[in-house]
Amino acid sequence: MEFVIVTGASRGLGAAMAWQLLSAARRLLCVARMPNPALERRAAELGAPLDYRRHDLADAQACAAFAQSLGDELRGSAGVSRFVLINNAGVVEPIGRVESLAAAAGADALGRALQVNVAAPMLLTSAFLAATAASGAERRILNISSGAGRYPVAGWSAYCASKAALDLFTRCVALEHAGGPNPPRVCSLAPGIVDTAMQAAIRSTDVADFPSVERFRQLKADGALATPEAAAARILAFLASDAFGERELDDIREH
Ligand SMILES: NC(=O)c1ccc[n+]([C@@H]2O[C@H](COP(=O)([O-])OP(=O)(O)OC[C@H]3O[C@@H](n4cnc5c(N)ncnc54)[C@H](OP(=O)(O)O)[C@@H]3O)[C@@H](O)[C@H]2O)c1
Repeated sequence: MEFVIVTGASRGLGAAMAWQLLSAARRLLCVARMPNPALERRAAELGAPLDYRRHDLADAQACAAFAQSLGDELRGSAGVSRFVLINNAGVVEPIGRVESLAAAAGADALGRALQVNVAAPMLLTSAFLAATAASGAERRILNISSGAGRYPVAGWSAYCASKAALDLFTRCVALEHAGGPNPPRVCSLAPGIVDTAMQAAIRSTDVADFPSVERFRQLKADGALATPEAAAARILAFLASDAFGERELDDIREH
């Protein structure tokens, strides 16, 4: 039996991964603020164990409480051969020049972005590793990063900085476990450009806030975006493969 956790499973890439992970042979625990009734119906049809929780990962206290309860749940799970944590939830806002980050509205958006994109995956990884340390089961952690964490993008300083932080956190996890007992396989993965609500939000940005907006509009017009289903299938095949975790920072377009 596998036990998989997916954050941000209400829509987009996370919803597609959760959908494809549904199986009677797998326990799936999903988290998001919004519900996903289609996923819950499909789980019932398949007899697939699904525990769908609604939490705001941008709320530091709610996130810490969830991490604690996740740890308790993992510790109490018998008969699991592989534990998998997929930190997928993410936000691209606030978008705009650095000068705009200090604005009142932007300040809250900045805190929320850092909490969802960085602090939540750190906390969940911490709880996951501590709770499964003595299990003897295989452990894999997939952090959904972005190419934007690996080069600068004007207008995306918060997003770039948060994904760069996620990348370096992933490398720290690998370093701390190198040579130790039952090291987890960890990977911070750029998923390519995927046709989700996040991309729609990017395309609707004002050029003054995001100078590259036209390139993203053109990619959509050219049909160059991966569907969430196709991206999810490719990512899950990689996650299940022996190649997963060979490189701590990876890009699905190279697999
Ligand atoms: N789409 C792309 O082209 C692309 C490219 C590179 C990287 N990525 C990364 O891929 C991941 C998935 O993105 P996506 O394109 O699927 O985005 P999306 O369609 O906007 O979905 C984001 C998911 O994250 C969840 N989420 C956001 N804020 C949350 C919060 N405060 N608490 C709990 N869950 C929250 C959302 O659920 P609720 O709103 O229900 O809470 C939703 O399920 C992100 O990490 C993103 O940075 C995407």
